[in-house]
Amino acid sequence: MTVLDTRGRPMTSLRVSVTDRCNLRCEYCMPERDYVWLPRAEILTFEEIRILVDAFTDLGVDRVRLTGGEPLLRRDLPRLVGLLADSGRLSDLAMTTNGILLAEAAPALREAGLPRLTVSLDTLDRRRFEALTRFDRLDRVLEGIEQAARSGFGSLKIDSVIVRGVNDDEIGALLEYGRGVAAEVRFIEYMDVGGATHWAPEKVVSRSEILDVIGRRYGGATPLGAIGSAPAQRFALPDGTAFGIIASTTAPFCRSCDRSRLTADGIWYLCLYAGEGTDLRAALRSGSSIEEIRARIEDVWRARVDRGAEERRETRDRAPLLPVSELRRDPHREMHTRGG
Ligand code: GTP
Ligand code: 5AD
Ligand code: SF4
Repeated sequence: MTVLDTRGRPMTSLRVSVTDRCNLRCEYCMPERDYVWLPRAEILTFEEIRILVDAFTDLGVDRVRLTGGEPLLRRDLPRLVGLLADSGRLSDLAMTTNGILLAEAAPALREAGLPRLTVSLDTLDRRRFEALTRFDRLDRVLEGIEQAARSGFGSLKIDSVIVRGVNDDEIGALLEYGRGVAAEVRFIEYMDVGGATHWAPEKVVSRSEILDVIGRRYGGATPLGAIGSAPAQRFALPDGTAFGIIASTTAPFCRSCDRSRLTADGIWYLCLYAGEGTDLRAALRSGSSIEEIRARIEDVWRARVDRGAEERRETRDRAPLLPVSELRRDPHREMHTRGG
């Protein structure tokens, strides 16, 4: 079954945040001192997540990505991976993690049936890592990546958000680190999402600048064909090393966006930039039947008009999306709650 929105976009990919907590405080995502957390009683159980994911897969979703906050902070996460992997309803299951807890978790995740993994890594310099994340934990992340590389994941990726004046001099070093652990590196343009309260246009390093840097250092990069609706444009260095660029800020992919996201407390958002979501937890806990939940999801997707990143690009005098006061009032607008 395929459900199309008002722009003809199918609903095929769901990002499921399993917790809004995080054990790092990355400058581009959680730069504030204090945060308002989701109440624990409202966090979906694994069984509730499974029921909702099944409703989505009945309607055509076949790709799920587990996100956070930091998903490995959710106790017993491999059990959820097992529930989703064993359902046999997904063509793709992946997770995005910051890697801090990965060295211990990687074998159990693989064992539970997680095929693909993406680790966030923005710098290879210990002091810089600490300045960027407020924790002196670079070693843990590198150990996590190296353990994951040994654990036999079908695909291992490294996501690096490039911020001018912070890590834009490490593009080559990150590529080479990725090559060494057989992980595909993707450079991500700094986005003005909710939570990025320190965002400014001049801190964005664009795809074309990233390609220039790489071209000068390695003598060029050849475009590779796209895979499905994935947001990364892929390229290869002359030696064959593949890498990606996610140009969400300067070249948004809204036109082909097939994603939506479920927060850890069961609110379903159609766009990273959307103001309002649909409360699927309330529906589930008030005894709606699975048919009713499915019908609700289908109606909402059919009415979907979102093109958040494109609209942001058309905004003049662009500044952070939301002030801190607004994020305190509704933590669902935080990137770390919405799960990227
Ligand atoms: P695969 O290609 O399937 O491995 O996954 P992915 O490209 O979705 O990767 P991932 O989840 O790691 O996303 C990478 C980054 O792309 C995110 O952290 C965001 O910065 C950005 N991104 C992800 N989803 C969206 C989206 O729906 N809209 C926009 N504008 N940016 C997104
Ligand atoms: N810009 C771009 N990507 C972001 N992420 C979080 N905040 C931002 C932002 N402001 C994404 C990155 C990071 C993941 C945890 O979330 O991909 O690796
Ligand atoms: Fe999809 Fe919204 Fe991201 Fe555009 S900004 S790609 S519509 S989630």
